[in-house]
Formats: sequence, structure tokens, C-alpha cells
Amino acid sequence: MDAAFLKKNGENAKESMYIEEKSTKGGVTSLIFSLKEEVGALAKALRLFEEKGLNLTHIESRPSRLKKGEYEFFIDLESKNVPCLEQILFTLRQEISGTVHELTRDKKKDTVPWFPRTIQDLDKFANQILSYGSELDADHPGFTDPVYRARRKEFADIAYSYRHGEVIPKVEYTEDEKNTWNTVFRELKTLYPTHACHEHNRVFPLLEQYCGYREHNIPQLEEISKFLQSCTGFRLRPVAGLLSSRDFLAGLAFRVFHSTQYIRHGSKPMYTPEPDVCHELLGHVPLFADLSFAQFSQEIGLASLGAPDEYIEKLATVYWFTVEFGLCKQNNETKAYGAGLLSSFGELQYSLTDQPELRPFDPEKTACQKYPITNFQPIYFVAETFEDAKEKVRKFAAMIPRPFSVRYNSYTQSIEVLDNIEQLKNLADSIGSEMGILYNALKKLE
Ligand SMILES: [Fe+2]
Repeated sequence: MDAAFLKKNGENAKESMYIEEKSTKGGVTSLIFSLKEEVGALAKALRLFEEKGLNLTHIESRPSRLKKGEYEFFIDLESKNVPCLEQILFTLRQEISGTVHELTRDKKKDTVPWFPRTIQDLDKFANQILSYGSELDADHPGFTDPVYRARRKEFADIAYSYRHGEVIPKVEYTEDEKNTWNTVFRELKTLYPTHACHEHNRVFPLLEQYCGYREHNIPQLEEISKFLQSCTGFRLRPVAGLLSSRDFLAGLAFRVFHSTQYIRHGSKPMYTPEPDVCHELLGHVPLFADLSFAQFSQEIGLASLGAPDEYIEKLATVYWFTVEFGLCKQNNETKAYGAGLLSSFGELQYSLTDQPELRPFDPEKTACQKYPITNFQPIYFVAETFEDAKEKVRKFAAMIPRPFSVRYNSYTQSIEVLDNIEQLKNLADSIGSEMGILYNALKKLE
């Protein structure tokens, strides 16, 4: 990628402009510029690209955060023709906007991989799954079952057509599917009181009360998603199969969990080679209703945004040993909080015996630990508390080489990239306001 930040150009110009230019290998160039709020200003600017035969593939606008009364525009265009672009940018500066605020050439930004900035951006990669829902591997229990494969395609189609903000379609599960759920639900429920962490055991009865968790009923994603939103702001969105680690982790930054909706094959109710609705609903969902765990999960997601590939691998490993296979200390006992354990009758029992090796959770070391994906884990990492694990992940994230920090704005459901003074001022204002609330609350308690 090639990046260029254009220079300040004239103090008395009637309009202002901030331009960032980035080119990708595929020949896509992205620009950000701002214009005063005037009728026809954008049309005039876009005409410059049209006249050069440049095709715009994406355009977004928002009120400028730098200057009142201005709008910022982000556009993508199919071109690597730099001389042509230089000419357009020159005209934009001279004839339309005049002033350019930023002038720093920042090469670090060249290497930052794309990441979603708004919760709607998750729609862009939700269908980029590594394995398609109905295309099963030859050793999958449902591989030779045409009915199961057709059913998987139905679930995949729901996920493919889903867009953020829509109601997750309700599924009528078949009797066979409910029987599979029954077996898994009944068996696992007997282990939870003794093996699951107290957060899981605290939330589970609420899921039974409000979300239809019971025998003979597979709960619906939409109902669970609403429940989670009311607890921690986490929400579910249906996914057809496995996403890449980068995409999956990015969802967590927005408190979005990509959940499968299909169920494992009925011939082996206690085994699944991939995540299914039993794994998601029994393993993951209860913990996402816990505030500390939700924050911990989001912390991993935020750390992944714009991180280099090698760090994505490390964060995916941290995710594996915590959210999937984590153990924690509670009242001098070891309990399970990882979804891979809480959804596996055999491994949940095994994990709390003296067979596996237990190590303290330390993101730097945990991130480098190799692990098997088809057998029980020989090593588990034990967290002191979710708060402690969250702080450790935050420190680990600070070491990830990226030229900015990020923060999730829950009001706008977007990621704020903290790479300029204005953003930091906004953050300071927000913290100041929260501190005021805290101070007043403490005073009243006194
Ligand atoms: Fe999982």
C-alpha cells in the first residue's frame, strides 16, 4: 500500500480539506476529505473523479469531527493511477476546498490491515467463511446424510442473507434435532453445578427462565441475543461456518458474537468436529451475560483490530486458551469457564482431574503455546479472575505494534481510532464526565 497525507495549503481558503490517500495491491485507493456544508459541493468534488473516468466503489459521509459545519467524505476508487490522482487532489485543494489540515506522511499506516469501524461493517465479512455450512469434510458424521446436508444449507442461507439490525430468523427444529439437543443438554446440566464457574451457574437459570433453555426445546438466537443485550450489550449474529480468526475476533470488539444455528449430526450427539448450536448456547452464551467476562472478551477483540497477522495468531491462541478452554480459580477450587469445556461432557470432566497440566494464565506465554484441536487439551491455563485476565490482555495488547489505540464508542457502535489530538480531547472529556459522576456518587455515599 502507498499512503500520502497532503499538506496544508493556504490559510485564507474558503473551505477546508483533509486528505488521506492509501492504495492497496489490488489497485483500490481510499481518500478522506472534508467539505463545507454547501449545496452541490460534493457533486462538484465527485465530478472530478468522473471526468477522469475513475470508478467509485464506496462512499461514506459523516459530520467533521475537526470543524463544525463541515462534512468528511470517505471514498474508495478503483485506480492505481497516481499522477491522475495527484491532479484531482490538486484541483480539489485549489478550486473546491482550499485548505488541507494534515500534512504528515505516516508510513506506519501503510501496513495496517483493514478492520471494521462500525457495527454495520461486520456485514462485509460475515459471509467470508472458511468452510461452507453444507460442504462437510469426508469424516464429518453427516457427510453421507443428504437430509442433514440439505438442512445445513438452509442454515447457511439464513446466515448469508442476514444483515446487522435484522431480527434473526426463527428456526423450527425437527424432532431429530430436538432429540440431539436433549441428550447434550441433559448430560451437561448434571455436571455444571460441580464443574462450571459460578458466573455460568448464576446465569444458567436465567436462560432457563427467559430464553427457553430446557429439554425438548432448542432456544432461538434472537431471544438469546435480546437477553444478552440487556445484560452486557453483547449480541449474536448468525454465521454459516468458521470465520477467519481476524474477522471473528473483530466481532468481539463490537460485542458481537458470531453464532452457528445448526446442530450436530444426530448419530453422534456427544461429538461435533465444529462449533454448533449446543456449543454456542451451552458453552458461550452464559458467560457473555457476565459483565466482567464480556469486557474481557471485548478486550481481546479490540486488541485484534488492525493488528499484524502474527499477532492475530497470538490473540487467537489466547482466545483458545481462555474463551474456549479456560479454567479459573474460585474459592480455592478450579472451575471451567471455557465454552469448549462447558459444551463437552467428556472434556469438562477430564479438565478438572489431575491428568492435564495447569499453568497460570499469562498472555505472553499463553499466546505461544501449541495445542491440539481434535483431542483433549494436555495443558490448560488458569485465570485468577476475569478482571485480572482482562488487565493482562490489555497489557499484552499494548505491545502489539500498531500506530494508534482504539476505543469502542457504545453510543455510535463504532470504533474510535485514537490517533489525533481531537480524539484524545474527546476521550478526556468523556473520562472527565464519568469521573464527575463517580465523585458525586461517592460524596452521596459518604
Ligand atoms: Fe467456540
